[in-house]
Amino acid sequence: PLQPVLLSGGSGTRLWPLSREAYPKQFLALAGRHTMLQDTWLRVAPLASQAPIVVANEEHRFLAGEQLRQVGVDGAAIVLEPVGRNTAPAIAAAALQAMAGGDDPLLLVLPSDHVVRDAAAFQAAVREASPAAESGALVTFGIVPESPETGFGYIQAGPGRGVRQVLRFVEKPDAATARAYLEEGGYYWNSGMFLFRASRYLEELGRFRPEMLEAVRAAFAGATRDGDFVRLDRDAFAAAPADSIDYAVMEKTGTAMVLPVDIGWNDVGSWSALWQVSAQDAHGNAHNGEVIAIDSRNSYVWSRRMVALVGVDDLVVVETDDAVLVARKDRVQQVKDVVARLKADD
Ligand code: GDD
Ligand code: MG
Repeated sequence: PLQPVLLSGGSGTRLWPLSREAYPKQFLALAGRHTMLQDTWLRVAPLASQAPIVVANEEHRFLAGEQLRQVGVDGAAIVLEPVGRNTAPAIAAAALQAMAGGDDPLLLVLPSDHVVRDAAAFQAAVREASPAAESGALVTFGIVPESPETGFGYIQAGPGRGVRQVLRFVEKPDAATARAYLEEGGYYWNSGMFLFRASRYLEELGRFRPEMLEAVRAAFAGATRDGDFVRLDRDAFAAAPADSIDYAVMEKTGTAMVLPVDIGWNDVGSWSALWQVSAQDAHGNAHNGEVIAIDSRNSYVWSRRMVALVGVDDLVVVETDDAVLVARKDRVQQVKDVVARLKADD
């Protein structure tokens, strides 16, 4: 049986001012009719043998519950984190939930904030990766890298075709290292999607971060349940160290495998990434609202009111009820600095 796990706890600060703490990007319809969380479920639903396990912050329980209901999900387990402790503890909580009934299903762990254009290819990849995961491997899905991005994990794949051994997993290398990997060849970006048996993940986590596993076990043992919600014990979960699966497990395990995939994957991490995946007009402009562009190219506009561009290129303009962002498209990574400044001023 395949148990999808939807990670829905990020805050998406680089998509400010649209993505907010109270309403982060996975709950927004950024690249289509459905929200990113809903798209994530719809993409995996044909493969799933049961409703998803969703791991989200307590603050977002109604958003998550309502959005899943809208796309026909019935009986999801929504595991609620009192505080964010990053993905390694979140996935551990999901694994414990998956095994609570005595099974040991394959977990398909999915970030809920990615665009995958070719859902059929994605589903085929999951099927292809399943036997290796059944046999105990921690399987990742590799993306052919396009540039020396520093925001991704890099996977050096062993020889062969299809699912192969991971020789090295390096989470978020610096720019020089990333460039060297691209020159050397044989490296893939980690897509952030994982496939493994629930028990195998817990085993590896227990090997490398036993204190983290213990804290999550205590939080799960002390959880209270109402309806679909599984509320982790606040104090126990807060005591778990924060770390991502990439650092805590994937960099260290000797049992990782990778399946390179071509699925139209995009991590919609920033406004420029969103521009890339959006429909563009003949001048490379993309927008959701009403825009008049005169002698302007390659810009992205998100707005409720009408926006006019005159003689400007490569801009991002985002207009919401209480904030406006104007940024050069090649500087949008620094939008997170705006959020940091706002927090500091609070
Ligand atoms: N429930 C929960 N709790 N979810 C979380 C938490 C948390 O504390 N923190 C992050 N998430 C969710 C995010 O919402 C996102 O869907 C996913 O987990 C991944 O977290 P990110 O914070 O977006 O990770 P990243 O983008 O820096 O890096 C990961 O993804 C890259 C590909 O997009 C890594 O796996 C990289 O290796 C990978 O290349
Ligand atoms: Mg991400």
